[in-house]
Amino acid sequence: MSKEYIFDITPGGRLSGDIRVPGDKSISHRSIMFGSLADGVTEVEGFLEGEDSLATLAAFRRMGVVIDGPTQGRVLIHGVGMHGLRAPDGPLDLGNSGTSMRLMAGLLAGQPFDTTLTGDASLSRRPMRRVTQPLGEMGARIETEAAGTPPLRLRGGSPLRGLRYDMPVASAQVKSALLLAGLYAEGETCVTEPAPTRDHTERMLTAFGYLITRHHNTVCVKGGGRLNPVRIAIPADISSAAFFLVGAAIAPGSDVTLTDVGINPTRIGVINILQQMGACIDIVNKRMFGGEPVADLRVRAGELRGIDIPVEQVPLAIDEFPALFIAAACATGRTVLTGAEELRVKESDRIQVMADGLRTLGIHAEPTLDGIVIEGKGGESTVQGTDFKSVPIFGGGEIESHGDHRIAMSFAMAGLRAAAPIRIHDCKNVDTSFPRFAGLARGAGLGIQVRGEG
Ligand code: S3P
Repeated sequence: MSKEYIFDITPGGRLSGDIRVPGDKSISHRSIMFGSLADGVTEVEGFLEGEDSLATLAAFRRMGVVIDGPTQGRVLIHGVGMHGLRAPDGPLDLGNSGTSMRLMAGLLAGQPFDTTLTGDASLSRRPMRRVTQPLGEMGARIETEAAGTPPLRLRGGSPLRGLRYDMPVASAQVKSALLLAGLYAEGETCVTEPAPTRDHTERMLTAFGYLITRHHNTVCVKGGGRLNPVRIAIPADISSAAFFLVGAAIAPGSDVTLTDVGINPTRIGVINILQQMGACIDIVNKRMFGGEPVADLRVRAGELRGIDIPVEQVPLAIDEFPALFIAAACATGRTVLTGAEELRVKESDRIQVMADGLRTLGIHAEPTLDGIVIEGKGGESTVQGTDFKSVPIFGGGEIESHGDHRIAMSFAMAGLRAAAPIRIHDCKNVDTSFPRFAGLARGAGLGIQVRGEG
């Protein structure tokens, strides 16, 4: 039994300096998957050594792929070719990682062997029918629990046929699962998305020399091709940078530069939304890392105002809403989020869990079916003759993160504008996406202490 793992946040402070957050989680997963299927050695730099991407790495090792590293973010994957994976000797435990499970469901559906995919308590509650149902239409045989939740039991040796699929939810995981199954299917698989979602699968398959076509909002792949190994430099994860973007935007006197951050247009909702709220973010030094655009992001504290978050930004910022809610609490006026029911089925119910935590800290936050309404307290602190920015927004208190990494890190940043200490419970899963978060945040100026151990 592990001890409880707590963040204790001392109120106040500001953030400064150059910060390189760890590698992009989505791209790290895909580098292992595609590198494993390539004909030869793929070299990866900047790999995220977090529990989620390490779960993917361990799973492919168990299917016979030799993988050296990670050593300081460097990984060598000795690809076995499209048909070289071997049956694992038991269930593959994917921990907390929904991306591993959904993408691997697609990738493994067309293998000649059976596999069982399991996960931790949070992953075991997450909906999987969104992938198993369309994969079933392609000919895959996958069993779930009665509620459509993990474990997933995949029966090997099922021939797959191409599918044209109109996705009911804007999900990059569903799109990717179907495209990966499509690599093994007879004919063409086409996925139409209701709104743009992250396109790392398409970009990386293209980098590995696989033909992917896109017409408007439909992306297609034909089965039967091969992957050529490549070198991959993984950008810093904008989803991890988001905590520092928000922290620096809300804490008076902050000035932070986040380096090498991935600014793929399908991921920059957090920048777009913060800028619309009035945040001061400069995007400099734009360049490409392989097929992915990166830049350095300089962010300084400034006055924020509440907004109605444009619904088309929702899939582009889907993982950043917990952090954005902290920014909304510090803004002048009301922020309204709609069209984000997906937040209820992430690592936790992020709408409810954030609303509960915000209320604990004295913020009016009203959850709705598909979003939240947050009454910002920025305006309340505009007192004549007072430096409004130095006035606390949050009270102190105890926050339940429900084992959700992004909830924990978001409330840690709230400490920068708190009047009293904040204690955040159940923070171990921060290691799934952001190992050494506390040390990096402390170095930048956040008063954070970690208690207990995993
Ligand atoms: C991911 C897609 C998103 C995101 C998740 C990673 C991916 O999920 O929330 O953290 O790597 O494809 P959905 O596509 O289900 O929204």
